[in-house]
Amino acid sequence: MSKTSKSTKSTKSTPKSSPKSTPKSKKSAEFITDFTQQENNLLMRILVAPQMANFSGVMHGGELLKLFDQVAYACSTRFCGIGTVTMSVDNVAFYQPIPIGSLLSLYASVNYTGKTSCEVGIKAIAQNVKDRSEAHCASGYYTMVAKSDGKPALMREFTPKNAEEKRRYANALKRRELRSNLVKK
Ligand SMILES: CC(C)(COP(=O)(O)OP(=O)(O)OC[C@H]1O[C@@H](n2cnc3c(N)ncnc32)[C@H](O)[C@@H]1OP(=O)(O)O)[C@@H](O)C(=O)NCCC(=O)NCCS
Repeated sequence: MSKTSKSTKSTKSTPKSSPKSTPKSKKSAEFITDFTQQENNLLMRILVAPQMANFSGVMHGGELLKLFDQVAYACSTRFCGIGTVTMSVDNVAFYQPIPIGSLLSLYASVNYTGKTSCEVGIKAIAQNVKDRSEAHCASGYYTMVAKSDGKPALMREFTPKNAEEKRRYANALKRRELRSNLVKK
């Protein structure tokens, strides 16, 4: 995603300015959610804390998956305005270990919508806050289903507009076909 290089260049703010933008709640103080983006996109940032480490001293994969699930929920629910649940998870790949102390940016987008479901693509970028270098560490695709009164509900339709959205839509459609072939009995 091209947004990541933009964020690298623009991170000129001093540490003094960041506490103003963090929520007051102690529990959620690590989260800074950017609500200024388009309605089918969402960016969630978190500082990778020592309690998220695995036995190798880097971020535990399970911690990352929990964040992926949260950002998929937030992205799909914010898009359709109905509560969504995770139906399936595909192609989660961990490309690089994430060091403790990294500033982790989770970019999520609704790529495709069906009748009651949507696919949310997620990309995790870890930034070293000392030298601001960045690495694409993980990605995954979540199928989220709108649920109301315990049943699947109609999903708001997503129409891709720009070239990037059209590319993601076409790829999501291929994954949907692959998925349905895999689960066919
Ligand atoms: C999500 C849930 C409501 C779907 O109910 P269901 O009766 O299976 O619904 P349907 O068969 O009508 O399928 C609903 C949508 O999921 C899609 N779907 C079904 N199986 C799927 C699979 N294996 N992978 C991806 N999508 C799938 C269907 O294509 C449909 O999407 P569409 O309407 O856009 O075409 C139900 O399975 C559920 O509540 N699951 C538990 C969810 C949960 O608790 N998640 C958290 C886990 S920790």
